[in-house]
Amino acid sequence: MRVEGGVFIPELASRMHELPPPNVLLYVTGDGAEAVADHLRRRGRRVELRDFEPDAPAEPDSRPRWRLWQPDPWVEEVTSSGNALDVGCGSGRDAVALAARGWQVAAVDPLPDALDRGRDLEARYGDGPPIDWRVTLPDAKFELVLLIRCGRPELLEQALAHLAPNGRLLFVGRTDLFPDLAKRSPVRLETGKDWSRAEFRAAGPVSPSDLLEKPV
Ligand SMILES: C[S@@+](CC[C@H](N)C(=O)[O-])C[C@H]1O[C@@H](n2cnc3c(N)ncnc32)[C@H](O)[C@@H]1O
Repeated sequence: MRVEGGVFIPELASRMHELPPPNVLLYVTGDGAEAVADHLRRRGRRVELRDFEPDAPAEPDSRPRWRLWQPDPWVEEVTSSGNALDVGCGSGRDAVALAARGWQVAAVDPLPDALDRGRDLEARYGDGPPIDWRVTLPDAKFELVLLIRCGRPELLEQALAHLAPNGRLLFVGRTDLFPDLAKRSPVRLETGKDWSRAEFRAAGPVSPSDLLEKPV
């Protein structure tokens, strides 16, 4: 059976933050599987007990095929490389995924624990330029700025202020917190029940207010 990722049960407690979104079905197998499945279900996870030998390396260090987590789907669509800023990086999935594709990433979050999880993720899966994990925003401009699931409107302005000329802002956020988002000339805007995804492109030197008013 082909699996997308996996973790040995003794490691699970320290790697819960790597799990994919709650809608993703998890299989549990081996000694102690029933207790682990109960634990995961209590945390809102979809779980099936399975008796199988996964078609995956026996060693947990064979990392890529054992990746438990996914970056944001839009981050997976980013193909070029350059320098990137991840504002509110949390446990660093998007930063690690971008660095793995050659981006020079600065990842910012005020929570030291979140940055530690990001460093841990980088140690397990990172194979690109080292990530600059930070508690404060750097004094620099970036070709790509991520603002993903950060529900603080002022962060949108900060993220835009760090865009280099011709840079892109990839935004994922709750629409009710950004009611005028659709007026802001996104290249793409997808609206779901609670969330929007938008991509803004800066054309030449811009201030955040120029960018927000300018068709792209
Ligand atoms: C819901 S999490 C999203 C994390 C990550 N972007 C993701 O999509 O998985 C929001 C993050 O924003 C961070 N945050 C809160 N205030 C912030 C600020 N002023 N500057 C940067 N990050 C902030 C929080 O610590 C938290 O890790």
